[in-house]
Amino acid sequence: AINKKVDALLAKMTIEEKVGQMAQITLDVIGKGKDRYTSDEPFSLDKKETEKALLQYHIGSVLNTSNNRARTPQVWYNIINEIQNVALKQGKNKIPVIYGVDEVHGATYTAGATMFPQQIGQAATFNRALVKEGASITAYETRASAIPWNFSPILDLGADPRFPRQWESFGEDPYLVSQLGVQMIKGLEGDDNDVSNPFKVASSIKHFLGYQVPVSGKDRTPAIISDQALREYHLPAFKAAIDAGAKTIMINSGLINGVPVHANYKILTRLLREELGFKGLVVTDWGDIENLHKRDRVAKNNKEAVMMAINAGIDMSMIAYNYEPFCDDLVALVKEGKVKQSRIDDAVRNILKVKYELGLFEKPVTHIKDYPKFGSKEFENAAYQTAAESITLLKNTNHTLPLSKTAKVLVTGPNANSMRTLNGAWTYSWQGEKVEEFAAKYNTIVKAIQNKVGAANVTYLPGVSYKMDGKYFEDFADKMDETIAAAKNADVIVLCLGENTYTETPGNLSDLYISDLQTELAKKLAATGKTIVLVLNEGRPRVISKFEKNMSAILQSYLPGNFGGDAIADVLYGDVNPSGKLPYTYPQFPNALFTYYHKPSESRETTEGVYNYDADYNPQYVFGHGLSYTTFSYSDIKLSSNTLKKGETLDINVKVSNTGKVAGKESVLLYISDLVASEISPDVKRLRGFEKIDLKAGETKTVTFKIKPEDIAYINADLVKTTGEGEFTIQLGNKKVNFNYTP
Ligand code: IFM
Repeated sequence: AINKKVDALLAKMTIEEKVGQMAQITLDVIGKGKDRYTSDEPFSLDKKETEKALLQYHIGSVLNTSNNRARTPQVWYNIINEIQNVALKQGKNKIPVIYGVDEVHGATYTAGATMFPQQIGQAATFNRALVKEGASITAYETRASAIPWNFSPILDLGADPRFPRQWESFGEDPYLVSQLGVQMIKGLEGDDNDVSNPFKVASSIKHFLGYQVPVSGKDRTPAIISDQALREYHLPAFKAAIDAGAKTIMINSGLINGVPVHANYKILTRLLREELGFKGLVVTDWGDIENLHKRDRVAKNNKEAVMMAINAGIDMSMIAYNYEPFCDDLVALVKEGKVKQSRIDDAVRNILKVKYELGLFEKPVTHIKDYPKFGSKEFENAAYQTAAESITLLKNTNHTLPLSKTAKVLVTGPNANSMRTLNGAWTYSWQGEKVEEFAAKYNTIVKAIQNKVGAANVTYLPGVSYKMDGKYFEDFADKMDETIAAAKNADVIVLCLGENTYTETPGNLSDLYISDLQTELAKKLAATGKTIVLVLNEGRPRVISKFEKNMSAILQSYLPGNFGGDAIADVLYGDVNPSGKLPYTYPQFPNALFTYYHKPSESRETTEGVYNYDADYNPQYVFGHGLSYTTFSYSDIKLSSNTLKKGETLDINVKVSNTGKVAGKESVLLYISDLVASEISPDVKRLRGFEKIDLKAGETKTVTFKIKPEDIAYINADLVKTTGEGEFTIQLGNKKVNFNYTP
């Protein structure tokens, strides 16, 4: 029925009206006043600009915030309602605008919304249900803010810790990213992808394809990725998401093998449309059509850039360089026969379809009064639970943790008393500039510790603080000597180190070591001989090998959101037993950045003898590492057969026991290694399954995995998915068992 409505509407539209639908403008374009982006003035629409964009140019979409700050749901309603009124009451074809925002860890642009851990922390939970529930709450609160389209989830592979957006991903493993990506889409769009449900939003999977691994490690710089690697590692999560019905997709701003993805017909049409069968809306990233001309120099002017991008398969241009010439150029290109009318019709069909699916024609705007659970305790509990399950215990020498609640503790470090660093960027604004203002009622790490053990047991001194003037990584010594002196009176030091918030190009980094000042603070504190618990609060794994050995215990908290302080305190004092596991390999040296599935086996024989590859790999902590206050043992791996055959399923059973004294949660990770492959050297091992279980002290549970031949396949040198004949090794905990595959 929707297709018929789309076709009927399309038949009434002029070329100018169609092209207008393909342009997305930022809210600032139709706002009043100068310096709208940085000003703290309340936002209001400029009537003349709004009418020009919507009525004269028929603009189809608006994105993002303005004034660089979050708004209440009522203010969002006022703005979007005004926009829809112009489009629907005065527009000739009465087509609603589709409004899109980056609500990547909660409804991040709405004051009072529930803030979850960023995706990297969600990945560390290895808990599909929590990820889905978080996305479902995000959808609810986004719609409560009158916004129907969310630029989430990120399905890029967080395989390079230097990349400034590594934390926006679900980490380095293709299977983990695929599994959690699908859960996020189900949470956002619903199990049936019925986004006419007013509690659901359209998701936008991004950034297709190969965005997070440029050679330099810096955002929006060129990547070199073989077709085999693209398909083996980067494609699976997008394929799974498309199979799960994701409505829209955003394109990688960068270049792969010299070709800007926004102009790559092979990727945008052959692969995405023809091979993967994607039927939704394709949107550019910010200004990326203009970038084909100005940055990438593959087009001699903006008009040629438009031609290249639209012909390659783009449906909607996010931030068309001044939208007027974009629209005029695209109309002219159609008239000149350089862009086919049928390409425009396809693009507009995709756009109108999602507008119909969202129910925007009948109900162009939703209102907070219909969303009583917005910001509720129930939602906050879910965010807290996700934060608690994300915290990853990396080291715990001699049971340093949990701490005694009567111990005298010195809490220090630049991340100890900051809501901004707990949340990261994309929180109440692009770079999280306003977090402290919006999140004042939540607990920083030091506040949460004080609440738990009483202010009398806690001394807080920063030691080092961040400069908050836009230089995201600059810090300064802040009462460093006083802090070292105070250490003498403490039983234990909780040292909170990491990074300040950042995303995209402002997050580009030239040195992966944690800052010199933080290193100095750690070393000086270590010299006092006191026990130190290091709490890391960082978006990417900053190298800590200069002082790691001096730390008695280490917690990784990632970017845990508004309830991160509480969750960290609960783990420190044993009220929560940690159960997070690293979703990436934590490097020990900046020149040794590997994923766990790096190709050469860890100990390999060469013509010179046995070469210990491990000496190069040698991470600080391996992918999947995470300790608990209890211990788990794995036993009795049982296979339904020692040989897996084509068309069959292998059942893998393993017993997991809690052998310690307290209850705990364990993420059971199933790795499988292909021992010998042909042509393409096999990965060391690959994650092929995971299940998170709860075990009481002394309890044993059996976990079952089902593996089909295609689950252990790889992309061969001819780019064909193949399951290699021969021997495979299963690894569960510290147990291994082999099986054979015969086609
Ligand atoms: O969705 C984002 C994208 O991830 C990075 N560039 C801007 C877009 C819209 O805010």
